[in-house]
Amino acid sequence: MSPGAPACKALSRRRSQAARYAVKGGSKEAVQRPCHAPASAPVWTRRERPGLLARVHSAVFKAPLFPAHELLDSGAGEKLERFGERVLRRPDPQALWNPRDEAVWRTADWRFEPARASGGQRGQWLSQASSRELDLEANAGAWSIRFGAATAVLRPTAFKHVGIFPEQASNWVFLQQTLARIDARPARVLNLFGYTGVASVIALQAGAQVTHVDASKTSLAWARENLVASGLAPDAMRLMLDDALGFARKAARRGERYEVILADPPHHGRGPRGEEWQFEEHVAELVRLLEELLAPKACLIFSTYAFGFSPLGLASLLQRTGQVEAGELALLEAPLAAGAKGAQAAPRALACGACARVARGVDLSGLSLWS
Ligand SMILES: C[S@@+](CC[C@H](N)C(=O)[O-])C[C@H]1O[C@@H](n2cnc3c(N)ncnc32)[C@H](O)[C@@H]1O
Repeated sequence: MSPGAPACKALSRRRSQAARYAVKGGSKEAVQRPCHAPASAPVWTRRERPGLLARVHSAVFKAPLFPAHELLDSGAGEKLERFGERVLRRPDPQALWNPRDEAVWRTADWRFEPARASGGQRGQWLSQASSRELDLEANAGAWSIRFGAATAVLRPTAFKHVGIFPEQASNWVFLQQTLARIDARPARVLNLFGYTGVASVIALQAGAQVTHVDASKTSLAWARENLVASGLAPDAMRLMLDDALGFARKAARRGERYEVILADPPHHGRGPRGEEWQFEEHVAELVRLLEELLAPKACLIFSTYAFGFSPLGLASLLQRTGQVEAGELALLEAPLAAGAKGAQAAPRALACGACARVARGVDLSGLSLWS
C-alpha cells in the first residue's frame, strides 16, 4: 500500500458523500479530484445554474424579538426557559452539551420528569421548590403570555409541552409579512396540525379567513381559548376536528384553494377516528394535496420536528411546489447575567426542527432572515 493510501481512503469517503449531495442538487458534473492532486485543487465543478444547492441554506431562520420568552440555558439533555412569569425546566434530546451556568437552573419554578414507562413521551411536572407534583387536571397552573397582539394561554401538559412552540415565532412574523404581500382580500389561510392556534390568531388579526385543523378536541378547545384571550370571537375561524390528511383529501375534492398553508406535522399522530399519521409514510401524499390546495399566488410554511429530517430533505420534498427556502428553526440562548459563571461563553443555538417556506407566483424574497 502506498504511503498516501489511508488519507486517500478518507478522501474517497468524503468524496462519495459529496458526490451524493451534488447529484441530489441536479448536477451530473461532479468531478472528483484524484488522490494525488494538491489540496488546493477544486474537488467539484458543477454547472453554474440555480439548482437545489443554491436554495438550501445551511442556516437558521432568524428568531424575532419575543420578549415573553427566553431560553435561559440548555445542556445535559434539558432546556431552561422563561415563559412570561414562569421558568420551566424540561428535557430536550438536542441539548447534548454542558449547561453554561448551574446557578440559573435553580430559578426554575417547575421541572418536567419523564415517566420511564412511556419512553419519555409522558410525565409529570414537579414544583422545583417543594418537589410536589402539579395537578394538571385542576388547571391551576394556567397563565398567559403575549406575542404582539396575540395572547397564548399556557399550561403544563403531561406531554412536556405548555401550549406554544416558541421557535415558531420566526414563522409567525414571516406569516404576517407574507399576508401583507398577498393581494387576495381576505387571504384564505389553512393551518394543518394547528395545535393551540397561535399562528391562526396571528393570521386572523392580519385580516385573513382561517381554517384550523387538528385531531385533538383539547387542542381545538385551547385554540378557542386563545382566540378569546386575544380579543377575538370564539367562532372567528373555521375549526375542524379532523385528520389533517383526510381533511386535505376532502378539501382538494371540493376544489378549495388557500393563499397561505401552514403545516407542522408531527412524526407520528392519529386523527380523531384513529387515522394514522406516520411522517415517512404519508408526507408525500400530503405534499401532493397541498400543491393542489395552494392558490396560484400563495405561500406554504412547512415545518417538522420529525427526528432526523433535514432542511435538505424538506427542500427536495417540496421543490415542485414553488420557490423553496429551507433551513432550521432554533432557539438561541439568552446572554447570562454579567458575572455569572459561563457569561463569557457564546450563546448556543438549540435545534428545533427543519422548516421550509415555499413561494408560488408571489415574490417573497427578502422576507426570510437568517441568523
Ligand atoms: C407539532 S404540533 C403542531 C404545533 C403547531 N403548529 C404550533 O406551532 O403551535 C402537532 C399537532 O398535530 C396534531 N395532530 C397529530 N396527528 C394529527 C392528525 N392525524 N391530524 C390532525 N392533527 C394531528 C396534534 O393534536 C397536535 O396538536
